[in-house]
Amino acid sequence: MQTRSLAAGAPPVSAIGFGAMPLSIQGRPDEAAGIRVLHASLDAGVTLIDTADVYCLDNSDTGHNERLIAKALTTWSGLRDAVLVATKGGLTRPQGRWKSDARPDRLKQACEQSLKALGVDCIDVYQLHAPDSQVPFVDSVGALADLQQQGKIRWVGLSNVSVNDIKKAESIVPIVTVQNHFNPFRREPIADGVVDYCTQRRIGFLAYSPLGGSQLNRTLPDHPVLKPIAERHGASVHTVVLAWILAQGANIIPIPGARTVAHAVDSVHAVELSLAADELKAIDDAKFSSKR
Ligand SMILES: NC(=O)c1ccc[n+]([C@@H]2O[C@H](COP(=O)([O-])OP(=O)(O)OC[C@H]3O[C@@H](n4cnc5c(N)ncnc54)[C@H](OP(=O)(O)O)[C@@H]3O)[C@@H](O)[C@H]2O)c1
Repeated sequence: MQTRSLAAGAPPVSAIGFGAMPLSIQGRPDEAAGIRVLHASLDAGVTLIDTADVYCLDNSDTGHNERLIAKALTTWSGLRDAVLVATKGGLTRPQGRWKSDARPDRLKQACEQSLKALGVDCIDVYQLHAPDSQVPFVDSVGALADLQQQGKIRWVGLSNVSVNDIKKAESIVPIVTVQNHFNPFRREPIADGVVDYCTQRRIGFLAYSPLGGSQLNRTLPDHPVLKPIAERHGASVHTVVLAWILAQGANIIPIPGARTVAHAVDSVHAVELSLAADELKAIDDAKFSSKR
């Protein structure tokens, strides 16, 4: 499996990660099936798993995804220490809604719960899930810096942030990853300079919902530009999209999600797919409608 670097000090990770959210939110598979998907992904060479305390059904179920990952790693026959788990804090799920709460005390409490759910003494990468408009951003990041100093988290990441946010955070604590929405339908990280800034700073950029998410990904197989490219390579359109994302920067690591073994394994094949310059350009120029 090809690897890609995170910021200085952190180990390289597989060029394709696994986003475990679909295994714990609405429509999730049962636990045994979820563990099979995680094992398949790890067996295929994935060494970065993305999760969050709020990948669950609601507040009574917080930590579901982290507990599932802990169980999958304990029962996996491979090398546990080669796998980096990146979790997040800063949101809650009242009645299943997604709500920000990145107050410093609450983040510290959430981190303790994540440590317990993951069954570890130190979390590999702890990401602020999103800035909270009710809390000064520097206060939220300050809480992550404190957690790092206390040895509860090894590296700090951010999610749903701008270049300015990243700069502010870097003045408080080194940043190893930035995780923003990036797929052919949503190209803001290129336009707003976040990918470029992360490249300059050697920060790993985790592309979330790289296939368009659970709904839009279903429109990919009929796409008039992707379909012939996929046919030419004997690959799925989904891997073509992931290969296009990989080609946007050497520090980009897509983290596709899946509820099925077949999809989890297929996505990893994107690393073997080398798109020609005219194919990349055709996807750059193509229209992707976010209407289903
Ligand atoms: N930081 C944030 O705010 C944030 C927000 C959203 C997501 N994320 C992260 O990003 C990860 C991925 O996002 P996502 O799950 O929303 O969307 P996604 O990865 O764009 O799409 C996942 C969907 O694509 C399907 N799929 C995956 N690989 C496929 C393949 N090779 N062929 C056909 N279908 C395939 C899956 O189907 P099946 O389910 O049927 O297998 C699944 O429904 C999440 O798991 C999470 O870790 C982060």
